[in-house]
Amino acid sequence: MLLRFRRTARAEKVPKGPEEPSIVFFGGKGGVGKTTMAAAHALHFADRGLRTLLVSTDPAHSLGDVLAMSLGDSPVPVGENLWVREPDADAALRRRVRQIGDDAAQALPREILPAVSRHLEHAAAGPGMAESALADLLMDAMEEVPDRWDRLVVDSAPTGHLLRLLHLPELLTPWVRGLARQRERAVDADRFAVGVIGGTQENTDDPLLEKLHARRRKLERAAARLREDAEVRLVLVPRRMVLAETDRAAKELADTGFRLGTVVVNQVPADVDPEVIGDVRARFAEQGTVESPLTGHEPIGPEALRDLLTHLA
Ligand SMILES: Nc1ncnc2c1ncn2[C@@H]1O[C@H](COP(=O)(O)OP(=O)(O)O)[C@@H](O)[C@H]1O
Ligand SMILES: [Mg+2]
Repeated sequence: MLLRFRRTARAEKVPKGPEEPSIVFFGGKGGVGKTTMAAAHALHFADRGLRTLLVSTDPAHSLGDVLAMSLGDSPVPVGENLWVREPDADAALRRRVRQIGDDAAQALPREILPAVSRHLEHAAAGPGMAESALADLLMDAMEEVPDRWDRLVVDSAPTGHLLRLLHLPELLTPWVRGLARQRERAVDADRFAVGVIGGTQENTDDPLLEKLHARRRKLERAAARLREDAEVRLVLVPRRMVLAETDRAAKELADTGFRLGTVVVNQVPADVDPEVIGDVRARFAEQGTVESPLTGHEPIGPEALRDLLTHLA
C-alpha cells in the first residue's frame, strides 16, 4: 500500500490520468470555501463526462446555497453528469434505530424489548449519532463507486468533524467484531444445548450474526477504500491562523495514512501578504497548491463556480 501512495504522490505533478482518485473530500477550517470548491470541482468532473455525485457530510448543509438550487435527501440531477445530495441525517438515524429495534426483536427475549427500545431512543439522541448516520450514508455512496459513479465529491464539515468521519470506520470495526464474537458464542451455546437434548442442528444460519459480519465487512472495506481510492483536498485562505490549523490537519491525515491531494489556496486577495502566501506555498510544496482569487462577488451558481475554476492558478 505504501508503494501505491508514493507512486500517486509523484503522479500529482503530471496531468491527471486513470490514477486520479475516485473519491475526493474537500476539507479545512470553517468559511475557507470548502463547499464552494467541492461544488466547482464536481461541476468540472461532470463537464469532463464523469458521472459525479456531490454529497454533503456537513450537518449544516450549504451545497444548495452555493449552487443556488433546492436539494434534498435523494440525489438531484444538476446538468448532464452531476447529481447532488444533502442527506437527511435525522431521517437516516431514525431508519437505523428502527432497523436495530427489528434486529433486537429477532434476537432478544420479548421481556427486555421495551427496555432495549428506551435505551435505543436515548442513544439516538446522544452526541455523535447524526455524525455516525452521515458516515453510514457516505459508506453507502462509496459502495456505488465505480458502478454508479465515476467520481464521489464530498463537501465536509470543518476539520475536526472530517477527521472523526474519516476515522470512524476503523474505530467501529473492533466494536462490531466484538459483538459478532459474542453472538457467535451465544449461537454456539444454543447449538450445544440442541445437541445435548438431541434436536436437529440443521438450522445453523443466524440472521443477526450474518448482519454483524456484513456490517464488519462494510466497515473494513470503507476503511481500506478511504486510504486507497480517496484523497483529501485541503482548502485554506492565506492567513497565519488558518495555515496553522491546516498544517495540523495535514500532519494528522498523513500520519494516519490518508492521501492528501493538491491544496487549494482560496480567496487570495490582490494585495496578499507575500510572506504569508510564500509560507503557504512552501508548507504544501509536496502536495502542490492551486490558488483562487478573492472575487468581488460571492461565487454562487454553476456559471460563477465554473468561472472560479478557470482562475485557478
Ligand atoms: N474565491 C472566493 N472569492 C470570494 N468569495 C468566496 C470565494 N470562495 C468562497 N467564497 C465565499 O466565502 C463564503 C464561505 O464559503 P463556503 O464555500 O461556504 O466555505 P466553507 O464551506 O469552507 O465554510 C461564502 O460566502 C462563499 O460564497
Ligand atoms: Mg461548507
